Amino acid sequence: MATPITTYGNPVLREKAKPVAEVTDELRTLADRMFGLMYSAEGIGLAAEQIGRTEALFVLDVPARADQDKQGQPLNPGVTMPMAVFNPEIIGASKETDVMEEGCLSFPEILVSVTRPKEVVLRYLDRNGEEQTLNAKGLLARAIQHENDHLNGVLLVDKMNVGEKMLNFRKLGRLVRQNKQDA
Ligand code: NI
Repeated sequence: MATPITTYGNPVLREKAKPVAEVTDELRTLADRMFGLMYSAEGIGLAAEQIGRTEALFVLDVPARADQDKQGQPLNPGVTMPMAVFNPEIIGASKETDVMEEGCLSFPEILVSVTRPKEVVLRYLDRNGEEQTLNAKGLLARAIQHENDHLNGVLLVDKMNVGEKMLNFRKLGRLVRQNKQDA
């Protein structure tokens, strides 16, 4: 059986997510199911479209050991993981950027160097439906931007330069073919 996580070539990944009217028990259950799938796949983030849904929802669990500065201090001390994020909006971003290799559960075995703002401000609804504003740095800032891209139908393949597209040509082609067979 195919994995329940949607991969490149599945049209749902190109959809724009719809904001939720309120955070209901059904949506909390959906988030919990996403956490389960994310942990089984050893990911740190998962967007609803990656399980074939179009709610504006992603889940994140950035490990504490990856959320540290060079001195070993937490980069985002006020933030508690894991997080379910509904109706996210990035309302601010630093001018300063950095480059990191990113993977994605919808692009197995592919890594892409992506330039992004180092810090972002995120407004969202938490799992209790409370509005929150969060200043994020480091891997958390990056994961938020990656998952937020998913909800806008923007994928890792869109971040590839020509060399990366050539390098991953076969893998991308295989994913698209698999999705055609499954359809
Ligand atoms: Ni992804």
